[in-house]
Formats: sequence, structure tokens, C-alpha cells
Amino acid sequence: MPRGSAEISRPTDPLRFDLLPDTAEIDESGALSIGGCRVADLAAEYGTPLFIYDEEHLRGRCRQAVAAWGDGVAYATKAFLCRAMAQLAVEEGMCLDVSTEGELHVALAAGVPADRLVLHGNNKAERELAQALDAGVGRIIVDSFDEIERLEGLLSTRSLRPQVLARVTPGVEVHTHEFVQTGQDDSKFGFGLAAGDAARAVARLQAMEAAGLVDFVGLHAHLGSQVFALEPFAQAIEVLASFFAPLGLPELVVGGGLGVAYLNGEHAPAMADWADIVRRACRAAGIPEGTRVTAEPGRSIVADAAVTVYTVGTIKNLPGIRTYVAVDGGMSDNPRPVLYDSGYEAFLPRATLAPRNLEIRVVGKHCESGDVIVPDAWVPDDLVVGDLLVTPVTGAYGYSMASNYNKVPRPAVLFVADGKARVVVRRESLDDLLRLDT
Ligand code: LLP
Repeated sequence: MPRGSAEISRPTDPLRFDLLPDTAEIDESGALSIGGCRVADLAAEYGTPLFIYDEEHLRGRCRQAVAAWGDGVAYATKAFLCRAMAQLAVEEGMCLDVSTEGELHVALAAGVPADRLVLHGNNKAERELAQALDAGVGRIIVDSFDEIERLEGLLSTRSLRPQVLARVTPGVEVHTHEFVQTGQDDSKFGFGLAAGDAARAVARLQAMEAAGLVDFVGLHAHLGSQVFALEPFAQAIEVLASFFAPLGLPELVVGGGLGVAYLNGEHAPAMADWADIVRRACRAAGIPEGTRVTAEPGRSIVADAAVTVYTVGTIKNLPGIRTYVAVDGGMSDNPRPVLYDSGYEAFLPRATLAPRNLEIRVVGKHCESGDVIVPDAWVPDDLVVGDLLVTPVTGAYGYSMASNYNKVPRPAVLFVADGKARVVVRRESLDDLLRLDT
């Protein structure tokens, strides 16, 4: 993953305070509280590993998104979803982007009005489309010719007229890990602009609109995720504009992708800057004023709202090689380091901003050497077995990509605010691990 705008920082420096959630406080002894709750107390009460989300921080990020993009901006639920999260984002004025029937199910179970939902997916099953149509989902982002056929079939037996947008790939590459790049021509997503597929898809959707089957309201393009440089967004608008403007459609969605800082030396652009650069590019490229230009942030809403708390179980010092510190979670609660080589900071919540002069490798409890959470972490040298160890900025694509590898139960998730904690996802029990066996 890219490292954003660089800043000289030494690994031994204390954790940068702004990598912590907004309501983080540190008392005179160095102990960390979030949402008015001491992290050590939460770990004692709810066990570890534990995800702690700062509710005020989450609400603040949703409000920033609505302020920057206006009505219609959707939270990309793939970053982190449970009923409480869906409710919170909608209470703060966001729509929700759901990309599977599972995400749709959770959002509906949370009581989110269907017209606040946007359905994504490059391979929506007929069943998924039917569920979304029958539930009254607000908008469907059409991704393929096969999906157009399925929609035509489903709508021929229903008197519904859903709003649809076409997903196009503008052929713009962003600097991020190749697994999370999506806007380039060589992509499984959407209709390519360069190859003429986008024009053919638009013609099909216009014909469906003329037949009274859909309202064709716009185009959608998502470039990638964890993007620090905003220029590619402007470039994508430039590329899209000459195709989009003549269609006279009311809406243009630029997807998600705004990066966040994970490490001491990183700085990410603000939500408002992202919206600004896109708006300016729209004006410059002749996209009509009055077009609803909006986005679908996921990571930038939830990533730095949360921390993961682990307990140190073993410390293995290999002189001249390295020190392995094993915690009670691992690649099952955070697969990102293994999948994308993503970096994280580590610190001790009893000495949150203390200098970190011991180099360690933070590993999990899974049965493979690749089970690494932070390959080269720095912590205070009085670290002992039993200490709590925290990785910050774990609110996005951590719990949502968690697994039961090695039959490790998934952690509990807390929302904290005003000195109170509530369990929004309970810890899995050992019996939960048998739930699906027949
Ligand atoms: N809209 C669409 C159509 C998307 O595919 C995505 C993310 C988003 C919005 C939200 O993007 P965000 O603002 O979160 O960057 N598992 C990877 C990230 C995969 C992102 C997939 N699509 C990771 O852990 O980095």
C-alpha cells in the first residue's frame, strides 16, 4: 500500500496521537481511554482480542461526508457492517452501499429504509436482484451485460421502475495495491469506456428507460481504495466528462477510495479536499452544474475510528535475529498485513505515548509463519507477557474480513461513547464454531 505524503519519522518515536480515535485521552500515567472508557477496563470486562470503535468519531466522519458530498453520499458497508453501524450511518444522513445479499440483509435488518440503499456487485445473482427490487432498493449500479438481461427478465414480471446507474471503468490507474485497483481497463468491474462497452450499455439502459422499465439516472466509476493522491480522481472526471455530459443524466458517482494514515509518517487528504478536487474537475470538464456528484467512502469513515486490543501471550527472543511477540488474535482478525503488506503501528495502552525502543515482530496464534500483524513494530522495552498491545486504525476491512481460521472465534466489537460501552457484535463462542455443522 502507498505511504501517502512522507514525513521523516523514526520508528522509535512515540505513536502519533492523531492515529487514535477522536475522543482518545491519555491520563498522567499514560493510560489510554476512548469515549471516556479506559481501554484496560474494557479489555478486563470484555476480553481480548477486542475491537473498540469511538462512536463520536464515526458520527463525525459521516457528517463530514454529508457536508462534503451532499445528500446521496453512501457509506460503503464492506468496510465494516453490523446493525449498529448501519443505523449510525443512516442517522447521520448517509445512504448505504451494499454489494451482496448479505450486506443487504444486514442493512434491512437494521431497519434502514430500502430507498437509502445502493446495490453494487459485479456478479449479482438473479435472486439478489429480485430481493433488491422487491425490497425497493433505491438505486442499482448495473455492472455487466448479463446483469442487464437479468434485470430485463425480472422487470418484465414486476410493475417496478428502479433507478439504475451504469458502472464504467474510465481506464485510469491509481497508485495503490493492485488487488484494490479497479478503474483500469483490465478489470472485472463495469463497462470499459475505451472498448465501447460503456456506450453499448448506455444504449441498452436508455432503451429500457424508453420501455418504462427503469429510470436511468447516472454513471458510476470507482478507481480503487486507499488512494492518497487525489489527481487520479480529477483525471477520471476529465476522461468521463465527454462521455457523461451529452447523456444529460442527473448523477455521477465517483465511488470510494480516499486513503487514511495508518503509520506515524503518513498524512491523508481530508474528505472535503477530495470532494473539492472532484467538483473543480467537473466544472473544468464541462459537467453541467446541478449534476448530483457524489461518492461512496468506506475506509475513510471507519478506519481510524477503531483500535484492536490484544493480550501478549509469549515473548520469544532470538538473539541476533529478532523478538517475536505473540498475541491472542492474528490473521483471523486482521488479514490485511498478509494480503496487502499493510503496515500498522503498535503500542501499549498503559504507556500510550512512551518512546518505543524495543523492536519486535507482532505475530498471531495461527499455525503458519505468515501470521504476522506488524513485521517491524516498536514498543517500550519493559513489555511483559500479559501486557495489552494495541494496533490503531483497524476499523476498516479488519472485522469485515475476519475469519475463523484455526477455529479461532471472532472478537467482540464495542461502540464506546460518553463513558459507556455497548457490545454491537458479541464475541463468538466455541459453540458458535459448531453452528453450521450438520
Ligand atoms: N465503492 C465501491 C464500488 C467499492 O468497490 C469500494 C471498495 C468502495 C466504494 C469503498 O472504498 P473505500 O472508500 O473503502 O476505499 N479489502 C481492501 C479494500 C477493498 C475495497 C473494495 N472496494 C483493504 O483492506 O484495503
